[in-house]
Amino acid sequence: MRLTVWTARVLNPIVWRRRRGVVRKLHQFALAERASMVDMRQAARLTPSPERAAAYLRHADDEARHAHMFLRRAQEVARTSSLPAPGALRVDTEHLFDTLGEVAFLAFVHYGEARARRQFETYQDWFLANGRDKDHALFDAVLADERRHERYTYAFLCELSGSEAAAKAAVRRAFWWEAKRRWLRSGRTVATAIYFVCSWLLYVVLLVWVPVIRLARPALRRWQQRPNALT
Ligand SMILES: [Fe+2]
Ligand SMILES: [Fe+2]
Repeated sequence: MRLTVWTARVLNPIVWRRRRGVVRKLHQFALAERASMVDMRQAARLTPSPERAAAYLRHADDEARHAHMFLRRAQEVARTSSLPAPGALRVDTEHLFDTLGEVAFLAFVHYGEARARRQFETYQDWFLANGRDKDHALFDAVLADERRHERYTYAFLCELSGSEAAAKAAVRRAFWWEAKRRWLRSGRTVATAIYFVCSWLLYVVLLVWVPVIRLARPALRRWQQRPNALT
């Protein structure tokens, strides 16, 4: 079993049980779908192939629809649970098509689609087992498109890279590139966590160390210091 699937299965009861968590997670998905829409529109503008441009535009439309579906459901859950409404969908772009080139871009998109599909399938199972029909229907609709995205990006990738072996190698490179990007992105969070743990460790050490030092080397009283003070 892949790590993504295993992690999702373990975390599902925690992530989807609390309404606040549901709103946050759906909003995160809406933002990711929106960012993907921007990437695909840029790809459609920049690719030299009219056939791929048409496919990228269709893909962008799907992602725009998914973003809207996730946001609508997040708003609905927030409204029925008296929680604050999730914010608007503003996203930045990293100009991935420009930065990576079309082969690496396609490998990156294919890898992302496959990972999302596997993750969403575990959510579907959990929603089905827990009688969450609305959420199950939402992911069911999104998954049909994600499977298509996964298939067509791989077909284009094989065509552009020249062989299936070359396409698989490009997907492996996309995996490592994405892993490094995630690591760098999480750097600030990790640094904050390390700082927090180190500060607490320091306090605990001082809490024990200071009484030990006081016992070993008791401070001199004023009358004990007088002879030195006169010299
Ligand atoms: Fe999507
Ligand atoms: Fe997709």
